[in-house]
Amino acid sequence: MTGSYPATRLRRPRSAAWSRALHRETVLTASDLIWPLFVTDGQGVEEPIATLPGVSRWSLDGIAARAKEAVSLGIPCIALFPNTPANLRSEEGGEALNPDNLMCRAIKAIRDACGSDIGVLTDVALDPYTSHGQDGLVDEAGYVLNDDTVAVLVDQAINQAEAGADIIAPSDMMDGRIRAIRMALELGGHHNVQIMSYAAKYASAFYGPFRDAVGSRGLLKGDKKTYQMDPANGEEALREVALDLAEGADSVMVKPGLPYLDIVRRVRERFEVPVFAYQVSGEYAMIEAAVAAGAGERDALVLETLMAFKRAGCAGVLTYHAPLAARLLND
Ligand code: PBG
Repeated sequence: MTGSYPATRLRRPRSAAWSRALHRETVLTASDLIWPLFVTDGQGVEEPIATLPGVSRWSLDGIAARAKEAVSLGIPCIALFPNTPANLRSEEGGEALNPDNLMCRAIKAIRDACGSDIGVLTDVALDPYTSHGQDGLVDEAGYVLNDDTVAVLVDQAINQAEAGADIIAPSDMMDGRIRAIRMALELGGHHNVQIMSYAAKYASAFYGPFRDAVGSRGLLKGDKKTYQMDPANGEEALREVALDLAEGADSVMVKPGLPYLDIVRRVRERFEVPVFAYQVSGEYAMIEAAVAAGAGERDALVLETLMAFKRAGCAGVLTYHAPLAARLLND
């Protein structure tokens, strides 16, 4: 009775754990993770962020401890974001260029604690330093000026590289900034400092908790739609990536993460470069809210979403769940 049996049974390889392991197409490990951390001033300070439950801002001693924790968990890289004291924010965001600013001191504290056992990724954009919360310099109408901003971002990137940053990650979305930063890094002798460009960064509603964490949410006037991408656009993401690669980016990022996995996939298929995704603050908050509401189980939600990034083609993921995920994966 040959006709009464399925010719193929896809359930057959799924029938035992050993077999599922054998057939698994995608691997997720702690070394796929980048852990974003928020830095605040002071000593012995931990400030929980209400809209990011489970995530805190740490003073330098705490940041150094988190970096050591990352090393012990096998997380290869951390991303730093400063919560600049209000009195140091200004129209031009000049604090970004201070060699003794919070970011630079955090880089050094991590270096002292961990040497070269961990990669330090630093964000290039002016929003944690400006009194208006925009990523660049604005004219009287509030428009973010491209070329004037790029000139400042170059100095910001050099300031971070001189403090010891390993990966410069411009998140500002100005045109031409990757070439300008790459040239300045070369001229400054920073030949091995990498650039991970936030190449396809969307004007998203998922950044709210991050803006709370760096203290820019209340300050932000208007939106960022004249420089961050329209969520409706996919073709344009490929142009952004092509330009940033031509300008010297070592790797590219897509941001936010889960709602934009189609973009990750398209970038991965078009370009043979490492693609990273940022599972942003609002995505983290959604998972935590689902857990709090009893709608899902945290560990499983976290590992499933991170596996989805890998399956889509990511080389790695920036995620606030990095330490939890690493613990689960190392078990
Ligand atoms: C700022 C920056 C943002 C994020 C990373 N860098 C916010 C923004 O563009 O307003 C968002 C990260 C997150 O939401 O977790 N240049």
